[in-house]
Amino acid sequence: MSERTIAIQYDRRDVAYTTSSEDAVRCFDDAIASWLGFRRDTDDHLKLALRADSDFLMGHVLQGYLMMLFAVRILDQKIDAAITTAKQSALQRGATQRERDHIAALTAWHRGDWQAALESWEKILLENPRDILALKLANHLYFYLGDARNVRDSIARVLYAWNEDTPGHGFVLGMYAFGLEECGDYANAEAVGQHAVEINPADVWAIHAVIHVMEMQGRHREGTDWLKTSEKIWINCNNFANHLWWHGALLLMDLERYHAVLDGYDSRIRAEQSDDYLDIVNASSLLWRLEETGVDVGNRWTELADKAEAHAQDHKLAFADAHYMMAMAADGRINAAEAMIDSMTSHAEAAGGMTATIHGEIGAPLCAAILAYSCGDFGRVVELLQPLRYDLRYLGGSVAQQDIFHRILISATVRGGRLDIARSLMSERSADRPSSVWNWRTYARVLAALDDEASAVAAWRKARDLITGLNL
Ligand SMILES: [Fe+2]
Repeated sequence: MSERTIAIQYDRRDVAYTTSSEDAVRCFDDAIASWLGFRRDTDDHLKLALRADSDFLMGHVLQGYLMMLFAVRILDQKIDAAITTAKQSALQRGATQRERDHIAALTAWHRGDWQAALESWEKILLENPRDILALKLANHLYFYLGDARNVRDSIARVLYAWNEDTPGHGFVLGMYAFGLEECGDYANAEAVGQHAVEINPADVWAIHAVIHVMEMQGRHREGTDWLKTSEKIWINCNNFANHLWWHGALLLMDLERYHAVLDGYDSRIRAEQSDDYLDIVNASSLLWRLEETGVDVGNRWTELADKAEAHAQDHKLAFADAHYMMAMAADGRINAAEAMIDSMTSHAEAAGGMTATIHGEIGAPLCAAILAYSCGDFGRVVELLQPLRYDLRYLGGSVAQQDIFHRILISATVRGGRLDIARSLMSERSADRPSSVWNWRTYARVLAALDDEASAVAAWRKARDLITGLNL
């Protein structure tokens, strides 16, 4: 079929699209704004875009991207179809270089070649620094590669092309704030995040960046207030609201308000009982913390393990896999858990490259450690996790989310009698996050077990003073 010239339309940021339909690009813009705002109507806008122009190349690419974000195997064929349709559109109508690069990025991401996808988005951004779709997706993959520096710097690299008159500027600042936070630049992260919310009060990601700062700095009261005052914005967003409830629960958890955490789990965080990976991540991480503290979580693991087991062979995100493992192991599904580790290892060997490292050398040993923990083999947990400690970040997720893996190691050192390692890890943690009640409480237990009574009492007092000082 011969290529023919078709009109070019421009979005709100002057990025070009191969289509004759102004409506298609307007609805596409609406879909992007909805997606960046974690709203529930993203698909509705995208459908309108494709109704306005059924061969709209970037519409099909966006459809593929949105399906990729679910990180589930069951959508593979539909993503293949979206790629095929986008390629056909390029063949029939022609396409800009940016659009061709988007097809290449989607194709690479879908076959598991994250580096190639990132190279395509970075190439796009050199010529089109206002392509907020490429920007957000690159940010997403850097996040799930544990590349905090690029979570921050991928945004910083395009800031020259944005100003307060550019539609979506607030979203860009929100992304930048989160990158700053993940790099430990808390003061700038908070300032930029607050500014992003001032520009666009509906910027849920910026709200989220600020709560991360407060979590990392142990600012329980301010964090709780921040979530409360912004709740009217994020409570009606998509399931990302569950993640913000999870952040609120972490603050309550550290204050040892376990009944409130369980209430929040049932009424908010796990109310929908979805099988979305982020929902399972939030829930597994919280239930694990509760159990580790000695709280009876009843039969809550079972429905979570049902959902996790259904995705145990997907291996789209090693970070999600580790949380699926937590649910399955905690629910006593030993055979399914062992089968998952086998399939994760096979997947890593077959894929090679970065997947071999992330899934095979980091994810699979972590999953084995989680299973060993649930089986009471704490020595094995320490053996597996101690050497991996600084590599776990390559599984992706935020510093706050990753913390559960480090807690598993610490608990295993205590329960397995490796108090020498436990003391060194708690010394490190209490220096890094001195406002964490859990840190001082755990440190006190370790010191007491080592018969260092004076230091144990001092650590205990710090935990008590933190809680009584807050009086939430
Ligand atoms: Fe978060």
